[in-house]
Amino acid sequence: MAQDRREFISTAGAAAVFTLAGEATKLRRATLNGQIGMGFIGSGIRGTQLIDEFKPIDGLKFLAVCDLYDGCLARAKEQIDDSILTTKEYRAILDRKDIDAVVIATPDHLHKKIVLDALSAGKHAYCEKPLTWSIEEGKEIIAAEKASGRILQVGSQAKTAALTAKARELIKSGAIGDVTMVRMSNLRNNAQGAWKYEVPPDASERTIEWKKFLGDRPNRPFDARTFFQWRCWWEFSGGVATDLFVHLLTWLHEVMDVKAPVSVVSQGGLYFWKDGRNVPDVLESVFEYEEGFIAEMYVHLANSYPAPPNIIMGTKGSILQQGDKLILLPEQADHGVQSYGTLQWPKAAREAYFASKGWSAEGHPLGELPARKQPEEIKVDPGFTHTGWFINSLREGKPSRENATEGHLAAGAAHVANQSYRKGKKLKWDWKNDKVSDK
Ligand SMILES: NC(=O)c1ccc[n+]([C@@H]2O[C@H](COP(=O)([O-])OP(=O)(O)OC[C@H]3O[C@@H](n4cnc5c(N)ncnc54)[C@H](O)[C@@H]3O)[C@@H](O)[C@H]2O)c1
Repeated sequence: MAQDRREFISTAGAAAVFTLAGEATKLRRATLNGQIGMGFIGSGIRGTQLIDEFKPIDGLKFLAVCDLYDGCLARAKEQIDDSILTTKEYRAILDRKDIDAVVIATPDHLHKKIVLDALSAGKHAYCEKPLTWSIEEGKEIIAAEKASGRILQVGSQAKTAALTAKARELIKSGAIGDVTMVRMSNLRNNAQGAWKYEVPPDASERTIEWKKFLGDRPNRPFDARTFFQWRCWWEFSGGVATDLFVHLLTWLHEVMDVKAPVSVVSQGGLYFWKDGRNVPDVLESVFEYEEGFIAEMYVHLANSYPAPPNIIMGTKGSILQQGDKLILLPEQADHGVQSYGTLQWPKAAREAYFASKGWSAEGHPLGELPARKQPEEIKVDPGFTHTGWFINSLREGKPSRENATEGHLAAGAAHVANQSYRKGKKLKWDWKNDKVSDK
């Protein structure tokens, strides 16, 4: 992409101020004076990164940050400036008229309530993946998004990555023929990778609003580990599937231009991190798509053998996604002569067969064989960030680049993978009718 990201977004913003008036009234407030008032709900690890990601985008006013831990609020002031409102009550952000959009990066079990509250307060919302904590929550969020007329963008960066778009384009062009299998993984082997995040020394009920963290979960005594390492428990998270499969699923759905799998089977267990958590640390799932392929996905939290690239396997070639590049691996031409498949034939019959194909009696090709096709490395300009696309949607009045339905279907596939793991059964997912069954 030749155009600079900042330039594009600020140009788009300027254009929107002059052209959107009659076309998208709902966006007028967001584009007024080219300034978009921003509030952040949840400024933990990801929220901190998101503040930094939104910062380079022109025309945003960072007005308020909500978090439940004093340390995060202090950090947000350091990141933005002292003038912002910091609060432990997100309603204080939703009630402000000068805030157009909120960025939600709380633990998963709180996403639904905060998204619904934000949309009904008339805010546009960027909500981190996984959109939902349970499959049932998706429907409600989709309905609220529709009723609100606001933009909801889910935060899976791979959805709008330029590399994803390139892989999709290659597949659509027929470069690798019919895709029948995709393999993906995510491997790590240390405490940080296994979500045993450090608990800050001042963590206590004085510095943390514990009850607000619990939300609608049954009351229980304050526990700083649970607050900072919530991914380790089903009560707040969906473990590796919703944390890590979701990124892979979102990428997969975009590159393959499909909506969701129709069945899933999972195996795994809690094999190494026996530290009181109840989610597995090794999980492998195979997802089946009605478009005629399977996708195999695994996460390992106790081994970091260099992760193999994502591999999309087609009848005419494969695409490997490795870091910031794609590698196109063509299948070699089939010469159409079977020396293995004719091994048991009588000598004379075999020689006659080779002769009919223009090969020597010993089964060697005569003349030139086509040259071996070589792998091709494809580099792509990274283009806009996912956060940039969100602001672009607000300014241009364009649809969300990762809407509630897409977020629900990616998270939903991960939820069904978890259900399959817990039940020890292959499950069918009739996602069009919201039904999961083992029949
Ligand atoms: N897209 C990505 O690459 C990516 C990366 C990391 C995390 N995430 C997602 O971001 C979300 C947050 O993850 P994290 O690693 O930052 O977790 P975290 O625990 O570091 O941060 C969550 C923050 O939310 C705050 N919080 C909790 N309840 C709140 C409430 N009611 N109101 C306001 N703040 C509240 C907590 O105080 C905490 O600081 C998760 O859903 C996670 O899946 C996405």
